[in-house]
Amino acid sequence: MTKYSHDMLIGELTRLSDSKPGIMQALQRTQELLGFVPDTAIDQVADVCNVSRAEVYGVLTFYSDFRREAPADVVVKVCVAESCQSVGSRQVVKELHDHGYDVHSGNQKDGIACEQTFCLGNCALAPAAMINGKPLGRASATSILAAAKAAK
Ligand code: FES
Repeated sequence: MTKYSHDMLIGELTRLSDSKPGIMQALQRTQELLGFVPDTAIDQVADVCNVSRAEVYGVLTFYSDFRREAPADVVVKVCVAESCQSVGSRQVVKELHDHGYDVHSGNQKDGIACEQTFCLGNCALAPAAMINGKPLGRASATSILAAAKAAK
């Protein structure tokens, strides 16, 4: 992730303004550069796109792919779809919650964020998880947290 810099963002968005970017394009570029879209970027995107702050905010909050906070060092995806539920993912989710990680909200703790997802394509090794893009099969809360700490 690139460290946030107002000057860098303004420069990049100004370059985009030559091609009259849409709100989505400007928000996507902001997220590419910064790893997320901070509230402080809303004014800059609105200026570049010549729209209101409310319009930018509406698009930003509608699409779940846009992050509004800096991502954690380690992002854990925990599958909560049917195959994984049938072999214990609910218990994994509960145990992660007991350790302070709410996969439903995707909160961050100690540089680790645990988020829910729906099928990682690894149903044969359910319950499935993914740590910074690396698959983990037959996952338990213990194995997930150990892998997440090792990935830091
Ligand atoms: S349902 Fe969990 S990996 Fe497919």
